[in-house]
Parts: sequence; structure tokens; C-alpha cells
Amino acid sequence: MEKVVVSLGGSVLVPGEEDARFLRDLAGLLRAVSRHVRLFAVTGGGRVARYYIETGRELGVPERRLDELGIGITRMNARLLGAALKGRANREPATSYAGAARLARRHAIVLMAGTRPGHTTDRVSASLARFVGAGRIVNATSVDGVYTADPRDHPDARRLDRITFEELVRLTGEGHKAAGPNVVFDPVAARILARDRIPLSVVRGRDLEALEAAILGRPFPGTLVSD
Ligand code: UTP
Repeated sequence: MEKVVVSLGGSVLVPGEEDARFLRDLAGLLRAVSRHVRLFAVTGGGRVARYYIETGRELGVPERRLDELGIGITRMNARLLGAALKGRANREPATSYAGAARLARRHAIVLMAGTRPGHTTDRVSASLARFVGAGRIVNATSVDGVYTADPRDHPDARRLDRITFEELVRLTGEGHKAAGPNVVFDPVAARILARDRIPLSVVRGRDLEALEAAILGRPFPGTLVSD
């Protein structure tokens, strides 16, 4: 069965809007598609993680420990999704790539979250995709694809439906310099995918039809990054 890694942003899982209903629907979708592909879902931290990090930073907590707070929240989000999946996934998120690969022998869906300070869950997703030999990675995020510029500042920005790995590296690299959440994918993760030529689909995670199509490798509204 083909392996697919889904990077689920915290901004998709728990933005604070109809989260229980969304998680129930998302769990239903993941259960259904797990009959066709072997799924690895990596959960992000979103604004809850940012809240802990910002509050800790005001307290003078060192960066490494702030990252640990963020990792804790990504793991809580994995447990919450795990609870919604009702037995189809591991209860405790994997802490290593080898551990995730082992869990895939027993579970239809494998949950993973943050691992080490200094990373993001996009990076965990890219490294996991490489480790397990995934056919693609789906980045379920709060926007519906990669744009030529941040659409909030540039009303004439266009969504790019297909780009190459090199274009992704260039765009995420540029995005990183401008402070703010306009980077749809971690720049280091983008370079991992470019090196290993693992296709990436960027899709609005709350659009479940689009998300399902992207996971199954069908045409979807969003951005496909490939050769
Ligand atoms: P993420 O980077 O995954 O969440 O982890 P995000 O940036 O809020 O993205 P979305 O909105 O979920 O897509 C949150 C924080 O947790 C720490 C980092 O501080 C990161 O900013 N973290 C996460 C790590 O240090 N290591 C990890 O492996 C994962």
C-alpha cells in the first residue's frame, strides 16, 4: 500500500472554531482513506503552542525550553486526534521515525508530533516521509496553497497550482525572511523534499473534499509541488 504523510497544522486541528465537529469529520475521512493508503499523520501546535511559547518567552524561559513547551502541545493535539480516531491509530504519538515505522505494522493510521527542539512538525513530516519512503506528503494548512506573495499584503497575489521543488525552496526561503506566518511550509523541510524528490500537496486542511483528494493523489484545489 502506498504511504502518505499528512502534516496537519495546529491552525487546522484546533483554531478554536467548531473544533470537535471538525475533528470528528476529519477522523471519519482519515479512517476512510486509510483503506487505500497507509497513513502517517503529524500534528502541529498552532496558536495554543504559540500562546505557551509567547507566555514563556515573557517569563524569560530559554528558547530550548520554549520549543519543549511547543512540542508538548503538538503531542497533546496528536492525542486529541487519536481519541477522535477511536482505536484506528496509536494512542501515544511516535517519538522517532523508526518507532513510527514499527507502529505502522499494527495501526492503520500512525500518529506522530514534535520531536526535538529547533524543529517544526513540517520538518518532522518531511523526514518521516523520507524514512518510510512515502509517495507524497500533504500539508494541510490554513491557506489553500502557495501564493506568489502573502495575499493579505498583496491583493494581486496569485495561487500557484503547480510548482517545482526548486521554486518551493526559493519561495519558502524568501518567506522566512519576512517575519510572520506567511510561510506555508518550513524552508528546511522544503529542502529535504527537494533533495529526495518527494511530491508535496499544499491544501486547505478544513476543506475535507480537497484534503481527501490530495491524500489519495487525485486532482485537488491547491498547490502541487513536484518535478
Ligand atoms: P509547529 O511548528 O509544528 O507548529 O510546532 P506551528 O508553527 O504553530 O504550525 P501550525 O500552525 O501548527 O502549522 C509549534 C512549535 O513547537 C516547537 C517549535 O517551537 C514550534 O514553533 N517544535 C515543534 C519543536 O521544537 N520541535 C518539533 O519537532 C516540533
